[in-house]
Amino acid sequence: MQEKKIRIEKNSVQETLIVPLYGRKMCAEKFPDLYNDMSAKKLCEKLDYDFSEQEAKKDSFAYEFGALEAAMRQLDIMYEINDYLKTHPKAAVVNLGCGLDQTGKTCDNGSCRIINVDFPDVIKIRTQLIPVGEREKNIACDLKDYSWMKEVAGDNGAVFFAAGVFHYFKREDVKNLVLELSRRYPGGRLIFDTVGKKGLELMLSKSLKNMGISDVGGFFSVNNAARQLNWSDKIRVTSKGYMLGYYDMKNPGIKGAHRFLAKIGDSLLKMAIIRMDFSA
Ligand SMILES: C[S@@+](CC[C@H](N)C(=O)[O-])C[C@H]1O[C@@H](n2cnc3c(N)ncnc32)[C@H](O)[C@@H]1O
Repeated sequence: MQEKKIRIEKNSVQETLIVPLYGRKMCAEKFPDLYNDMSAKKLCEKLDYDFSEQEAKKDSFAYEFGALEAAMRQLDIMYEINDYLKTHPKAAVVNLGCGLDQTGKTCDNGSCRIINVDFPDVIKIRTQLIPVGEREKNIACDLKDYSWMKEVAGDNGAVFFAAGVFHYFKREDVKNLVLELSRRYPGGRLIFDTVGKKGLELMLSKSLKNMGISDVGGFFSVNNAARQLNWSDKIRVTSKGYMLGYYDMKNPGIKGAHRFLAKIGDSLLKMAIIRMDFSA
């Protein structure tokens, strides 16, 4: 008997999880030397979602670049999580706005705890599709309602990451969340991706329009991390290029033009991975 597929509604914030998921599936298919995690492909097959638009464009240069963006972000964030786990092997690894991303599991060292947080309807879908491991927990909550933090103990360290999430937040919401995390989890780390104002306009114009939002002005963008994220003397902020800050992308199948655009993304559009270390 064929398994019943899980429906994802169009034009919702939740639908935003499709873009990185499909990107990771495509990247594993097209650039397996760079990224070989097939879990996104398996998940896409279980969804009742019309992928025809994505399928029609999947061999275009822009879509290939989008796939690389999804994979690079995950690889960069994994690098920082694994680095934190070297000194905090029992830490809580917390995926903020997890969607259907399984980075926590990919970084599992056998002793950490894995926590995934997203809106209730996303967590419902996630629970139907992805079995929860023995050291893993899903929390259904709006990230702006800090009650979820009560379920995350930081005694053995905590590393938080948000991939493709803060673009949908207002600047003040990101700042308040960051300050709250730094107060509750001394010695913790937070990793997230950012883009400059121009880049955000380009990136989100379609998805925000679909959600009825016309102006990206108040949304979170970062042109200069050192200056704009200087929110507390208890937080050390560092940043690296999102596309080329961690890996050189010199893998089979990746064209010079992809790398050129990656350079433009990092330098002109200010695509970055931000790491924040909270003082102990
Ligand atoms: C672009 S998707 C990224 C999903 C995942 N991080 C990934 O890389 O595949 C954004 C995710 O953030 C979640 N999200 C956005 N705002 C949120 C909020 N205030 N509280 C909880 N989750 C939120 C959405 O539901 C969605 O799953």
